[in-house]
Amino acid sequence: MATINTNFDKLAAGYLFSEIARRTKEFANKNPDIEILRLGIGNTTEPLVPAVINGLAKGVEKLSRVETYSGYGDEQGNLLLRETLGKWYQKRKVFLDPGEIFISDGAKSDSANIQSLFSKDSVIAVCDPVYPVYVDSNVIAGRTGEFSGGKYKGLVYLPCNEENGFFPDLPKRKVDLIYICSPNNPTGAVATKKQLKNFVDFAVKTKAVIVFDAAYFAYISDPKLPRSVYEVPGAKECAIEINSFSKWAGFCGVRLGWTVVPMGLVCKNSPQGKLNMLWNRRQTTMFNGASNIAQEGGLAVLSPKGVSQSQKVVDYYMGNARMIKKTLSKMGLKSFGGDNAPYIWLKTPGNMKSWDFFDKLLLEAHVVGIPGSGFGFSGEGYLRLSAFGHRENIQKAVESIYQNLKI
Ligand code: MLT
Repeated sequence: MATINTNFDKLAAGYLFSEIARRTKEFANKNPDIEILRLGIGNTTEPLVPAVINGLAKGVEKLSRVETYSGYGDEQGNLLLRETLGKWYQKRKVFLDPGEIFISDGAKSDSANIQSLFSKDSVIAVCDPVYPVYVDSNVIAGRTGEFSGGKYKGLVYLPCNEENGFFPDLPKRKVDLIYICSPNNPTGAVATKKQLKNFVDFAVKTKAVIVFDAAYFAYISDPKLPRSVYEVPGAKECAIEINSFSKWAGFCGVRLGWTVVPMGLVCKNSPQGKLNMLWNRRQTTMFNGASNIAQEGGLAVLSPKGVSQSQKVVDYYMGNARMIKKTLSKMGLKSFGGDNAPYIWLKTPGNMKSWDFFDKLLLEAHVVGIPGSGFGFSGEGYLRLSAFGHRENIQKAVESIYQNLKI
């Protein structure tokens, strides 16, 4: 007799972004004449740049001829792509062997799957608020108790708030895995080298592993801020970096990312090289490699034209972010992030609850945001606005917020 994995029953509610989509649809059905302005999910909207389109087209063209056709590729990814990524890291003085880089179908899958390398009794630390995938994947894997009072039992929450600049203090107890996302989803805060160094030193000392999600690195314009955890000395001993072409180059629907598992990475019962070997084993068993067309696209992103054209799109989204922030500040609303990240973390007026403010914003301004509490206990009293969108829609959204939101 089959039985289900009852850890699924512990999950707090529907997956956050699906729940937002459901509520938005419900509002749209009730109000068919209202134009809804979506600043909710961080989904890219602008077309792929010409250099990348050419790369993807090359990928398709290769499949059309017997001499260049390819079926399954290496599960680890196209070697040329891994070598090119390695060279790209060198610009930040980060030196990686292609064998340390694994191409994936995006950061979301890898950030959910990476926990499978670690023992069931590992103690997990997450920032609070947090990208829900890190939490939910560990809940499903059975590393937590029940959800109660807005928290999962057994999970170590590291509060990120105005007082600590939305970057957590070091854990006060022993933890085994620490998830850090920088630039942060949802708060838009970016860790400094010093802040990361503190965590790296802690992890090295305690043989903990940091899972560093750098999916929004391209939005950092301040040259002093680290775009990769490996810019911090010691990180290769203690950190896995997960990254993506989605937000950098508009690959949300194309699907391509990568994960770095350094040879030097160690934990309690794993000498150098073993975690790399285990991830390789996991991928060869459970993944058949990223799409060969997408990987040609990835190579094109990394070409000089691809890098500069893609950066212009990133700058465009950051123009949206500035516009949103400017309007909020004109209205006397307090917001954070949005300077080196595409997310704006808005303090709700009058300490409103996040979901109440979500409803108010939708009802009065017809704008969709993401309630901060959906990202965790410490997100209560905040709402995330995304800068991904066509300029005209963002314009309409900020005008509507300015004119129609009663505060
Ligand atoms: C978000 O809105 O937080 C992201 O788009 C979700 C994701 O990248 O999976």
